[in-house]
Amino acid sequence: MKGRITVLHGINFDVLGRRPASHYGGLTLAALELQIKRYAEELDLAVACSQTNNEGAYCEALHNATGEGLILNPGAWTHYSWAIRDALEVAALPAVEVHLSAVDEREEWRRVSVIRDLCLGTVQGKGPEGYRDALELLRKHLER
Ligand code: DQA
Repeated sequence: MKGRITVLHGINFDVLGRRPASHYGGLTLAALELQIKRYAEELDLAVACSQTNNEGAYCEALHNATGEGLILNPGAWTHYSWAIRDALEVAALPAVEVHLSAVDEREEWRRVSVIRDLCLGTVQGKGPEGYRDALELLRKHLER
C-alpha cells in the first residue's frame, strides 16, 4: 500500500494567490495542491490536502490525522500557536514543517517556530518544491 501523507495548510492559505508574490510566488492554493499531488505521484505516495483559517479546526485535523505522515504549513500560527504544538504531539505521526518563504531570513518573529522540534525536519524558502523535499524526507523515514 502507498504511504499516505496528510498535508495541512493553515491560516491565509485560502488567499495564497493574493499574498505577496515576492514571498509566496503568486500561485493559488489550488495550483499548489495540484503540484503537491504530482510530486506525491512521482514518489509513489498518496496525499490528502486540506486548509482551514480556524485554529481549533486545525488542531482537530491533527487529532484525527490518519496515515503515515504529516506535512504542516500552519502559516502565521507556526510562530505562536502552542495549541497546534500540543495537537501535533497528540497526532504522534512523523511530521515535516514546510514554508514557501525563507522564514529564518525574514522578520525576527517569523524565526520562531513552536513546532520545529517536534518535526523530522523543516524545509523553507524553496517555494512549492519544498513540499517535494518534505515528501522525500517522509518517504525515507518510512522506508527505515
Ligand atoms: C509561511 C510563512 C509564515 O511566516 C506566514 O505567516 C505564512 C506563510 C510560508 O509558507 O512561507 O502565512 O508559512
